[in-house]
Amino acid sequence: MKIAFTGKGGVGKTTLASLFIGVLAKDGQEVLAVDCDPDSNLGRVLGFKEHEKIIPIARMDKLINERMGVEAGNKSFFKLNPKIDDIPDKFSQTKGNIKLIVMGAVKEGGSGCMCPENTFIKNLIEHLILQRDEHVVMDMEAGVEHFGRGTAQSCDFVLVVVEPSLNSIESAKKISGFARDIGIKKIYCIGNKIRSQKDKSFINKRLNNIKLIETIDFDQHFLDWDKKKDFLIPSERISKRLEKVKQFLERELS
Ligand SMILES: Nc1ncnc2c1ncn2[C@@H]1O[C@H](COP(=O)(O)OP(=O)(O)OP(=O)(O)O)[C@@H](O)[C@H]1O
Ligand SMILES: [Mg+2]
Repeated sequence: MKIAFTGKGGVGKTTLASLFIGVLAKDGQEVLAVDCDPDSNLGRVLGFKEHEKIIPIARMDKLINERMGVEAGNKSFFKLNPKIDDIPDKFSQTKGNIKLIVMGAVKEGGSGCMCPENTFIKNLIEHLILQRDEHVVMDMEAGVEHFGRGTAQSCDFVLVVVEPSLNSIESAKKISGFARDIGIKKIYCIGNKIRSQKDKSFINKRLNNIKLIETIDFDQHFLDWDKKKDFLIPSERISKRLEKVKQFLERELS
């Protein structure tokens, strides 16, 4: 399955994406973890060694210019279908059956900019989603801007992480609207940092037509872990909830 974790800033996209990657990988299945947040930290949360040394693809100017056919710095002309199929294996880090690719931020241009860098990244993500056999889990940039670049367009599911706050719910509605506009049909919410039944109904009442498929409890351990920076291990209760998310998505796909 190919999934994008989205949502407002700080709601827990990276945390839940990494725990979900763990759930998928647990059964020995191959998972491609794709960090699409310019402020990348999925590698750290997944416990990849020397994650800070990973050079994001978007910063590989020489590679991008070469593959896009950009000559003498003239970015007005470039290929629309660059060779891309060797990139995932060449430029990913591996930990067990998880591969990590860090996309990084494109330096120039607005959200819809069709510069060589954006086109390259968009092609690469599309390749990962459409051509690779592994599960693909993308940790997206907060908000809706990435939808303008069409980076999540072909995925099976958009999972919007919400916390019990009006801002995060409003953001989820916007994201869901953008996702529908670009043709994604399966958009679901996961409630995070839930402290009570009240929190759960607060979210449920306000989501309108977006289905809340699961809720994840607030867990102080996550915050404590964030200070230590070592590998995040979820409680059994949270693992079970994420296992249920996996089963739900599998049913939806079949
Ligand atoms: N269920 C939870 N209980 C308690 N703390 C949590 C929970 N989920 C995430 N957190 C904490 O919330 C903070 C933000 O989480 P995270 O970085 O995953 O959010 P994000 O949506 O990826 O943020 P950004 O928009 O900056 O990428 C972190 O300190 C994380 O440990
Ligand atoms: Mg994040």
